[in-house]
Amino acid sequence: MIILNRYIPDEVINEIRNAADIVDIVSETVRLRKQGNNYVGLCPFHSEKTPSFMVSHEKQIFRCFGCGEGGNVFSFIMKRDSLSFPEAVKALAQKVGIQLPEQENPEKAAEIKLRDRYFKINELAKNFYQYILQNHGIAKDARRYLEQRQISSETIEKFQIGYAPPSWNSLLQFLSNKGFSGKELETVGLVLPRTRGSEGHYDRFRNRIMFPIWNVQGKIVGFGGRVLDDTLPKYLNSPESLLFNKSHNLYGLNKALESIRQSDQVIIVEGYLDVITCHQAGINNVVASLGTALTREQGKLLLRYAKNVIMAYDTDAAGVKATMKGWQLLDELGFRLKVVSMPNGKDPDEFIKNHGKEKFLQLVQEYGQNLCDYQTDRAMEKFDIYTLEGKFKIASEVIPSINNMSNEIEKDETINRLAKRLHLSPEAIRAEVEKFTRTSRNDWRNRDKIVDIRNNNTDFVKVGNTDLGQTGARVKAERTLMSMVLHDIKLFKKVKDQIGITFTENQEYLVIINLLNEIVEKELNYQPASFFDRINNERVSACLSSLMVLDLPVEDKEKVFDDCLKTIKEDETRKRREDLLRQMENADKQRDYELRKKLLLEYSKLI
Ligand code: CTP
Ligand code: MN
Repeated sequence: MIILNRYIPDEVINEIRNAADIVDIVSETVRLRKQGNNYVGLCPFHSEKTPSFMVSHEKQIFRCFGCGEGGNVFSFIMKRDSLSFPEAVKALAQKVGIQLPEQENPEKAAEIKLRDRYFKINELAKNFYQYILQNHGIAKDARRYLEQRQISSETIEKFQIGYAPPSWNSLLQFLSNKGFSGKELETVGLVLPRTRGSEGHYDRFRNRIMFPIWNVQGKIVGFGGRVLDDTLPKYLNSPESLLFNKSHNLYGLNKALESIRQSDQVIIVEGYLDVITCHQAGINNVVASLGTALTREQGKLLLRYAKNVIMAYDTDAAGVKATMKGWQLLDELGFRLKVVSMPNGKDPDEFIKNHGKEKFLQLVQEYGQNLCDYQTDRAMEKFDIYTLEGKFKIASEVIPSINNMSNEIEKDETINRLAKRLHLSPEAIRAEVEKFTRTSRNDWRNRDKIVDIRNNNTDFVKVGNTDLGQTGARVKAERTLMSMVLHDIKLFKKVKDQIGITFTENQEYLVIINLLNEIVEKELNYQPASFFDRINNERVSACLSSLMVLDLPVEDKEKVFDDCLKTIKEDETRKRREDLLRQMENADKQRDYELRKKLLLEYSKLI
């Protein structure tokens, strides 16, 4: 399928959505049964025996009460067929017979043709390297090397591993004979221009084991070449090109897709050999970020296929750093994360070869940690836990991550574990975390988040359930209010006028409110189901679908709505009063009677 890399006008998207019925589209793959106003069936996104998957014809949305998946017809197609948004729009347009505006400009067509030619070059180069490895005497050492690393011939075949001979121009010769110019081969990154005045090119990869790197579609976008000994650099990779964008690609994803989808889980490792060894051992949901720290683009790519990520990087300094960075980024994208560390600084490749597949799976399934526990382990390797200073250093490495945790229960448990390990009281750690929270409230990360909420850059916003600490009535009022507004956007103005648009601590709600505000301010056309198209954060869309399927009051809508507003206002007042009491207490202690009087005045007005 050609990927649409362009803007599709909103009207067209709406037209397509209106032309399709989500019940029909879902029915293509799910047996639905009518139940009341809705349809129910077995969820296609997780395995279940009793149906908790619901489709609303009226609202044109779906929602699974089991796994939380939800959205409109586009979200459904994206998830079901692993497509990007534009791809899903295009697929549905075809189905309902709507012509997308033509965009095939000559430039684009030329680029596609050029890419095809470059893919062809890579394909031929792969064949060449493979042929040499399997047939040529010159590859004897390479074959021995692979054998010594216990890579089977089936695996060599499956991963299309090859060998670049030590010669300066054998690939160049081979491809020139097939009609490709040195310049073209240079663009793909297989040869380099000769320097010092002389004309012509020479092979980039010499005397290296060659690993083709594929895109998701399985086409070769570049190569990685490993030396056979300890020479540096250990790996040489294709440069970035029209085909190869390192930060957008994950090694092995094309081979791991099916297994990732099936298990809803992906294991991310660092290197080529880690992926290859895992697959050889029959563990197929493994991809590599190829040495570099994980990028947002790589994360977003994975988001299409799975919710659960296990990070299994090397435990050396670089691996630890990459783990921490990667965690943050994946967490922000809404993944459920675990990190595992191979004992003694080994990587998954060595671990599997030394301890076998079962031990590795056990490590992954049973010994996955959250980031804080992982950091504690690392810090304890660095500092002496028997001195106060050491304890302090360990704690201060972990506290920022504890502060970042969105789930309060997990946070609490993590604090307890850390306290136990450092032989400190949980209260002491909790106090430190709170201190950190206070001083970091206005740091750059938070400012960034707020800016992002403002700009509706929803997929960067770190969202979490902050319902905890709120009263039940308040939570319920917010939820009902949100649900009603989503149903009838005319209500939004009243909310904005009476309680403003930052009345809630729920991050998902804040994102949704900001989008609603934009729609109202710009007087954009609004349909509840269209809302999902504006959101690319899993947690926000899960929240949105749960709001949309709430049963709304049939009678006295207005009264219910006003009651919600009232509850929220009263709760705010209550909080303000509590705050004032605390301040008065402080003023008392400071003997600032002037201030106390002022506070008391405000307090009395609130009763
Ligand atoms: N890497 C790279 N260039 C280097 C070193 C590493 O591109 N000079 C990338 C490679 O993609 C490599 C990954 O980083 O696979 C991890 O590096 P490392 O752990 O050093 O290599 P391994 O994959 O473990 O390879 P081996 O087991 O053969 O040492
Ligand atoms: Mn290795």
